[in-house]
Amino acid sequence: MKAFARLRDKVFAAAYDRMNAAAERTVMGQHRAKVIGAARGVVVEIGAGTGANLSHYDVARIDRLVLTEPDPYMRQRLQRKIDDAGPRLHEIAAAVDGSAEHIDLPDASVDVVVSTLVLCSVDDVAASAAEARRVLKPGGQLLFMEHVCSNQTSIRRWQDRLTPIQRAVAGGCHLNRDTLATFRGAGLETDGVQRWEFPGPFGRLMPIVEGAAHKPNI
Ligand SMILES: C[S@@+](CC[C@H](N)C(=O)[O-])C[C@H]1O[C@@H](n2cnc3c(N)ncnc32)[C@H](O)[C@@H]1O
Repeated sequence: MKAFARLRDKVFAAAYDRMNAAAERTVMGQHRAKVIGAARGVVVEIGAGTGANLSHYDVARIDRLVLTEPDPYMRQRLQRKIDDAGPRLHEIAAAVDGSAEHIDLPDASVDVVVSTLVLCSVDDVAASAAEARRVLKPGGQLLFMEHVCSNQTSIRRWQDRLTPIQRAVAGGCHLNRDTLATFRGAGLETDGVQRWEFPGPFGRLMPIVEGAAHKPNI
């Protein structure tokens, strides 16, 4: 079973960039640029995957970029992209083994946490949001682009039905998480959330929310 899981994770990591290439070019890249472009100071990206966000950071405004990724196959690819990047990214970025539920940094030490297409896959989404809040400085921001449960009951039912299959084939991904409610539950306040869908028939199964949530000053 362990050998099967390793093979599945290896194949998912190897296929990830190719699978998303068209969507990145036509839709996702511009959304990533908008969300990630706001990062500055000390930044932690959780579940950085193969490094799809790397080219969107404004590296001149970032002092330190910690990229956490628990999957060794994803992390290898991430490290390769850092190695091939320009000198500034190379200087500030580090890929580390770590989960969103346990970030190896002190309380209130981070200006920005970045999370894109990750909270659908983590084991404990509430613990991940609480951990983001813990490491953020007061006023610090969680910048996010995540796919979430639909507002429409009929679509939501399909998301519930299809989630077991999605989890099995897509690295533990859930279609039906209410991630914005989880942010609020963790004491993060959302500022201007944009909703959008991928074009095509499956877009409605993966509505996206993007924007920022901040840790209140008190
Ligand atoms: C769909 S990929 C997204 C990768 C990248 N963030 C992006 O935007 O392309 C989901 C990522 O979440 C990672 N992941 C899964 N469980 C995690 C956890 N508990 N903590 C942090 N990352 C996790 C996976 O290894 C995978 O790299």
